[in-house]
Amino acid sequence: MIGKDLEYAASLLRSGEILAVPTETVYGLAANALLAQSVIKIYEIKNRPRFNPLIVHTNTIERVANFTTDFPKQLQSLAEKFWPGPLTMLLPKSEIIPQLVTAGSEMVAVRIPNHPVITELLSMLPFPLCAPSANPSGYISPTSPLHVEKQLGEKIPYILDGGVCTVGIESTIIKLNDEGKVVILREGGITSEEIKTITGYAPIKFVKETSPEAPGMLKSHYAPAKQLLVGNITELLKKHDDKSLGIITFSQGIEHPAVKACIVLSSEANLYEAAKNLFAALHELDETDIDVILAEYFPDEGIGKAINDRLHRASVQK
Ligand code: TXA
Ligand code: MG
Repeated sequence: MIGKDLEYAASLLRSGEILAVPTETVYGLAANALLAQSVIKIYEIKNRPRFNPLIVHTNTIERVANFTTDFPKQLQSLAEKFWPGPLTMLLPKSEIIPQLVTAGSEMVAVRIPNHPVITELLSMLPFPLCAPSANPSGYISPTSPLHVEKQLGEKIPYILDGGVCTVGIESTIIKLNDEGKVVILREGGITSEEIKTITGYAPIKFVKETSPEAPGMLKSHYAPAKQLLVGNITELLKKHDDKSLGIITFSQGIEHPAVKACIVLSSEANLYEAAKNLFAALHELDETDIDVILAEYFPDEGIGKAINDRLHRASVQK
């Protein structure tokens, strides 16, 4: 059921239930982060591997100290600048965070989301919420209540409606490495250029894809059920024009007899607008009667890096 009843949502969470909640990035599937028997439901409902840890959400920087043991200065200045917002950071966890949340790691991923509905909900609760994206593991993240309903509606008691997500792509995940430098584990809503304005150096991009450090970075993530190919759109079109095609482009539409649907993510060529519309386009084309989805690579700058990252992962074969 989709609704706007914050009291009801809070009461479900207090009694150990899980439900979908809006954030500015994507919808999350939330549970009391301090209660292992609730957290386990998230893994079950998403069919998520137990080795893939969950982000803990709270509403004030002060509350972060309730479940972490240290907050390095450098990360604190990033938090002050970008929270509430689409930035997640790894901090040493305190004992009250169950091992299940961090998949055994001593570091917990923490974020203060920037959406009035979840902010209000968090302020009504005495505990933080752990929440992965509200999709079955490996599938496209939801950016509207209807996306959640379509994917998980029958498995969860409530979807708290906060409208369409304004950022539309998941948070950027960072950590400090042994030298105390900021490392980006996942590209997202806060760009490396923005991080550099605070740190004074470009954050290091984490590359080792097989590391368990961020299992969400492994192959076949954020993927539609249909085949997705990413690259130069003219070349892809030439190669696949014997099929029925759905196309995702940045700013220019494409007309061609093979193209049954073309979604332009931002006619004004605005990367933030494109990010906001990306997952909805994948959801829509996945439901359209076509053979293959083709998408063009976006300018590899700013949030375009996160868009390319998601397209790339969505294109990896299962
Ligand atoms: O924007 C977002 O981050 C959304 C909204 C709901 O907040 N959440 C989200 O969660 O994208 P999820 O579970 O779909 O992706 C979280 C990623 C996963 O790749 C996971 O491996 C990584 O964060 N992660 C979580 N906790 C971690 C930890 N303790 N250490 C390393 N990586 C962690
Ligand atoms: Mg996810």
